[in-house]
Amino acid sequence: MLDVLGNLERTHTCGELRAEAVGTQVVLMGWVAKKRDFGVFTFIDLRDRDGVTQVVVSEETAAEAHAKAKNIRGEFVIAVKGEVVRRDEGARNAKLSTGEIEVKVAELLVLNDAAVPPFQLEVAGSENLADEYTRLKYRYLDLRRPALQHNIRTRAKAVAAIREYFDDRGFIEIETPILLKSTPEGARDFIVPSRIHAGKFFALPQSPQILKQITMIAGFDKYYQIARCFRDEDLRADRQPEFTQLDMEMSFVNREQVYREIEGMFNHVTRKVGGIELPAEWPRMTYAEAMRRYGSDKPDLRFGMELIDLSDDLRDTDFAPFAAILSGTRASLPAGESEEQAGGLRSQGEVKCIVVKGRADYSRKQTDELQEFVKRYGAGAMAWIKVGDEVTSSLLKVLGEEKIDQLIATAGAERGDAVLIVAGKKSVVAAALGALRNEVARREDLIDRSKFECLIVTEFPMFEHDEETDAYVAAHHPFTSPMDEDLEMFKTAVNDPSQHHLLGNVRAKAYDAVINGYECAGGSIRIHQKEIQALNFKALGLTPEKARERFGFFLDALEYGTPPHGGFAAGIERTCMILCGTENIRDVMAFPKTASAQDLMMDAPGDVDEAQLDELGIIVRNS
Ligand code: AMO
Repeated sequence: MLDVLGNLERTHTCGELRAEAVGTQVVLMGWVAKKRDFGVFTFIDLRDRDGVTQVVVSEETAAEAHAKAKNIRGEFVIAVKGEVVRRDEGARNAKLSTGEIEVKVAELLVLNDAAVPPFQLEVAGSENLADEYTRLKYRYLDLRRPALQHNIRTRAKAVAAIREYFDDRGFIEIETPILLKSTPEGARDFIVPSRIHAGKFFALPQSPQILKQITMIAGFDKYYQIARCFRDEDLRADRQPEFTQLDMEMSFVNREQVYREIEGMFNHVTRKVGGIELPAEWPRMTYAEAMRRYGSDKPDLRFGMELIDLSDDLRDTDFAPFAAILSGTRASLPAGESEEQAGGLRSQGEVKCIVVKGRADYSRKQTDELQEFVKRYGAGAMAWIKVGDEVTSSLLKVLGEEKIDQLIATAGAERGDAVLIVAGKKSVVAAALGALRNEVARREDLIDRSKFECLIVTEFPMFEHDEETDAYVAAHHPFTSPMDEDLEMFKTAVNDPSQHHLLGNVRAKAYDAVINGYECAGGSIRIHQKEIQALNFKALGLTPEKARERFGFFLDALEYGTPPHGGFAAGIERTCMILCGTENIRDVMAFPKTASAQDLMMDAPGDVDEAQLDELGIIVRNS
């Protein structure tokens, strides 16, 4: 038999009571986290979003409440009325904020019962958690855990701090539609069929990119929005199909002015929400330098272990695989062109290494594992040198002692260190060694988790070359401006088909904000002149007709006095992952999707009625 709440009012939350409250009468409400039955006494840990308070029900002083307490189980919802008493010296719990007191229950109401939860909520440490599948299916139970309660509240505070920052600086929050025409950010669109215009579709925004640019054309000057974005793309630990951005745009600005807003916003949020002080000015690093030194455009600067180039030491080698990689690509450069001109990272081969301090004792099994790891990133193999009492190396036979000593010297390896070497196309070496650098840091515990290392990566390439289709695609998005210095090259590359490959060298006024190896934000200065925008569509292989069909409204808008403008968007989830110290994006979302883009709680996506499909004029083919 359940009790009714009636007019009873809660006086405190379960995280609030301290020793000062001893002697007062209180009413608490919450969930039964734990119950211990000691015959005449029953102890209950009562939980709500603020914490846990121990309540004690005595058969002697509250017989009715005690009888009810006998029948309650974990996750029952109860209310208790009673007096706050000081716990006996030995019974105090320093781990609990309410650990000095307990509530001596006079009256107990059972407000609701609960089925036995499919997993245990009260576990110490994340290692003992139930499997994520079950926790996502019963998300409402998982969300009751203090760790997730904390993360979701941190997220709310972060969003509030973002709003505070931009409101104070005169930005205007403008909502943009969810049902719109495709806005390209490099992923597939989620599309929504129109009933009224059967056979036609809306697309959900991959970001509000074009619309925020139109707010600049419309004269708002400073825009921001907490925007939902939808991208149908392969998911990773830090990616969801549906996520939230802080999206902002400003008129009449240069890149440095946008960087200052990136720094200002992140510094405000981390200070306000996490008590974390980031540097007033973040280091800047060009994309080319980041790739060269770290093999990544989002380097984790909490540890060193930079990539070292061994190519020059190996140019004279007759070891066939290295010779092919180093000389083969040189020979393949167009006549008279320097490596730099030929497209930077993509087209050349190189041999690079990282030095792992103190790990000359790597076992065969360990180097084999690391070799398997780099293969996932397209590397053919991983060579190694161990500078132990004796120098050993997988390359000793083919290169000889002298060359190995030379490589050790170039790598700057000392006695006791291991040198891990990858050879191949520049892009593969960067991807493989960049990932290996992170993996080794993780395995060797080289990352100081109390540190926050941020930087702004600048001058991204404007285009990426898609080897399958031999086409150039926008590295950021098609509205990003080329660097002034590269504008002439850009024009030549678009207008002269024989110079098309130069597109690979054009740098953009595009930038990313990186914290602890996470790309937390990205943005650019935009193209504000219609001629350049038209050229860019041409570079991307869009005919004028196709460009008009997809972006005609935007090309029209560009005709009517578009101010120079730029901005950025920050991933709210990524930012919260940093604030909450988690590497799983689902830990900072109330209702996330699985890695295969499903909502396990709602069982979505699901079927729809035949009648709904009929109305939309849709026939589903059985695949
Ligand atoms: P971009 O595509 O770089 O830029 O996205 C900006 C930031 O959003 C976050 N992010 C994601 N977070 C979770 N799941 C995803 N699938 C996901 N994709 C992106 C990242 C990223 O840095 N319109 C441009 C911004 C601009 O140019 O102003 C844009 O969306 O933290």
